[in-house]
Amino acid sequence: MAHSEIYILGIESSCDDTSAAVSCNTQVLSNVISTQKIHELYGGVVPELASRAHMQNIIPVVHEAITKAGISLDKIDAIAFTRGPGLLGSLLVGTSFAKALSLALEKPIIDVHHMKAHILAHFIDNEDNNKPSFPFLCLTVSGGHTQIVKVTSFYDFEILGSTIDDAAGEAFDKCAKIMGLPYPGGPLIDKYAQIGDDKRFQFNKPQVVGFDFSFSGLKTSFLYFIDKEKKKNPQFIDENLHDLCASLQKTIIEILIQKLELASEKTGIKTVAIAGGVSANSGLRNRLKSYEQDKEWKVFIPEFQFCTDNAGMIAVTGYFNYLDNRFVDQSVQASARISEW
Ligand code: KG4
Ligand code: ZN
Repeated sequence: MAHSEIYILGIESSCDDTSAAVSCNTQVLSNVISTQKIHELYGGVVPELASRAHMQNIIPVVHEAITKAGISLDKIDAIAFTRGPGLLGSLLVGTSFAKALSLALEKPIIDVHHMKAHILAHFIDNEDNNKPSFPFLCLTVSGGHTQIVKVTSFYDFEILGSTIDDAAGEAFDKCAKIMGLPYPGGPLIDKYAQIGDDKRFQFNKPQVVGFDFSFSGLKTSFLYFIDKEKKKNPQFIDENLHDLCASLQKTIIEILIQKLELASEKTGIKTVAIAGGVSANSGLRNRLKSYEQDKEWKVFIPEFQFCTDNAGMIAVTGYFNYLDNRFVDQSVQASARISEW
């Protein structure tokens, strides 16, 4: 018989955030995130610098997570870590740390798939304790992924559609860079879009069959458009920043929502969730919320702190794997690309 309270230490280091969290069952007791500011200078994540920063951050971040949770390390039942997908050098830091701590504490380790964890963040306890019921559709939108996933249990995920080129977060970040905004540009576009006119500029939407997405065409047409306008007026971006951001954001949201609508129609599933960094976008959140009335969808949107990369979602995913005895041994290896789900 399992104990009723399972404590998991979660470790996340797949990209440029070093994070550690402690969960007790589906409750997150602490969730410490150290965001690496250094990449802002380079307009994107520099893998080598990310690995180095993870090495510096991991011990203090874990220490803080344990302290904030108000427990001692020996109370932990297992250590869950992100095995992939992500940047290999970054993943290696979290994976090696988890393995070493497992040996020192004599506690089991659990490997976690980063994108599944983004989805299972919906099962973290929240104020109204509103959680999706199976099956549901999840639009996972981050800096590296854009997918529609059909989720039938904590362990069964089916990818219905994916991007054939750039991810939605990449589209935000690359277009932000074209406008001279620092990395990551997604949150800034969201901010400037708030008071912009989203009908001011029109951008082409891709024609991709089925549930797949494409964003590279939008990025290229945005680049040409900006170049052309800047030749006529060098101040074009500054003078139109809010309207540009609002129009661009609306186009990205429409590309995402159209496919989600199609997936809901074809599968008959009306329980719909969003996950991943781009689910922090206020335009996307509001648009989806409106579908609760317009389309009678049940919509699930994670709390902000669990949208972008965080170890809370790793710990809670680890908890579900713990319940099903899904442990790994010391031979486990970090993997930048994990094809099977
Ligand atoms: O999930 P995440 O933190 O890291 C990855 O696994 O990629 O997602 C990061 C992505 C970045 O592209 C960032 O620009 C985007 O999420 N993002 C946003 C917003 N907040 C984060 N994009 C649009 N609006 C936001 N509010
Ligand atoms: Zn992520």
